[in-house]
Amino acid sequence: MKNPEPKIVIEHLIKIYGDKPHGALKLFRSGGTRESILKETGNVLGIADVSMNINQQELFVIMGLSGSGKSTLVRCINRLINPTSGHIYIDGEDIAHVNEQRMREIRLTKASMVFQKFGLFPHRTVAQNVEYGLKVKGIDKDERRQKALDTLKIVGLDQWADYLPSSLSGGMQQRVGLARALATDADILLMDEAFSALDPLIRREMQDELLRLQKELHKTIVFISHDIQEALKIGDRIAVMKDGAIVQIGTPEEMITQPADEYIRAFIQDVNRAQVVTAGSIARQTIPVILDQDSPSEALGKISEHVVEHMCVVNAQGSPVGIINKQSLESALAQEKSDISQVMQTDFPQIKANKRLEDTFPLYQQGLPVTVVDGAGKFQGLVELADVLASIGNADNCGHQNDD
Ligand SMILES: Nc1ncnc2c1ncn2[C@@H]1O[C@H](COP(=O)(O)OP(=O)(O)OP(=O)(O)O)[C@@H](O)[C@H]1O
Ligand SMILES: [Mg+2]
Repeated sequence: MKNPEPKIVIEHLIKIYGDKPHGALKLFRSGGTRESILKETGNVLGIADVSMNINQQELFVIMGLSGSGKSTLVRCINRLINPTSGHIYIDGEDIAHVNEQRMREIRLTKASMVFQKFGLFPHRTVAQNVEYGLKVKGIDKDERRQKALDTLKIVGLDQWADYLPSSLSGGMQQRVGLARALATDADILLMDEAFSALDPLIRREMQDELLRLQKELHKTIVFISHDIQEALKIGDRIAVMKDGAIVQIGTPEEMITQPADEYIRAFIQDVNRAQVVTAGSIARQTIPVILDQDSPSEALGKISEHVVEHMCVVNAQGSPVGIINKQSLESALAQEKSDISQVMQTDFPQIKANKRLEDTFPLYQQGLPVTVVDGAGKFQGLVELADVLASIGNADNCGHQNDD
């Protein structure tokens, strides 16, 4: 379970690049656009009044086309770029307004950056690269060597400690970059297109690696990407930027099922919805039949009332124990059977609510609806194959209800 406490709070952040930021800021505040500000002042509106929270232990992805302001935003978070206006709180401290000395401490202890081009020192060994932040922090030689080796082990590179980065492949070099950021024990990792320079296969491996590490380390990760597949795969939440502003923030599923506008729709149009939408989100929440409580005639009443083919039978704890259908109940009544357990099917497909629709496909071979349960194994609803197919197929209808 994720902790919903915000780790980073961004309030009305504005960044203007150029020599007349205050004039440009005034223009922006009186309704000027990126274009008009550029035309009148020659200054570029990099971030246009962004407010958002990034929660503790969240893997937060920032997406957007080239030039939309992603790097500017993430570089404001560790003040590699000074904001023109606004606040950025890390653990409650407004880092937009702390002095350079304190900011250096924050970079060393709270927010580490992983760069796209790895940023490794070519003439230092892998271990020396990982030790770098610790050396700057003043940690003694033996301790930092040990910490570097421990961290290299986490990313699977402890055998390579004494090699130069040039002996390593791109994927391995990026693991070194990641180890260097992890070695500082900073709670926040800022990753700007960290996997973009890698081959597609290695890139997918690194995404899996990051997810695996995150399960153990529980960092707050701000991950920039312009690849929607990557964002949907790794993000707990995604923010999509355009022209320096946030267009939408939501979970991958919210992006897919409720895109805010055409810009977001253009991003998600080729996405395989079955890989994103969860079983729980489309489960039909019909009332189940309760074992040892409902008689076959009461069960039949429920089936007729809900106009469904099948119903789930749950035990007193609310966990599914069987599936019944109308015919079996009718024959139970005809044969004067009084117990539902005599006519229910106990071999039935079941899936957790947070599983993706693609995981339900193999479960339909029995011709039964799939029973969806929550994390505690309690009944949540049923998903019919027709619901799954409708949900995957309706990308074009999604959010277009008012277009006709
Ligand atoms: N140092 C700078 N001086 C002037 N303008 C800049 C500077 N850095 C960035 N910009 C402008 O600010 C805007 C946002 O740039 P930014 O680098 O944040 O975008 P991005 O979303 O990271 O793009 P990309 O996907 O290409 O990395 C762009 O219009 C860019 O031209
Ligand atoms: Mg960038």
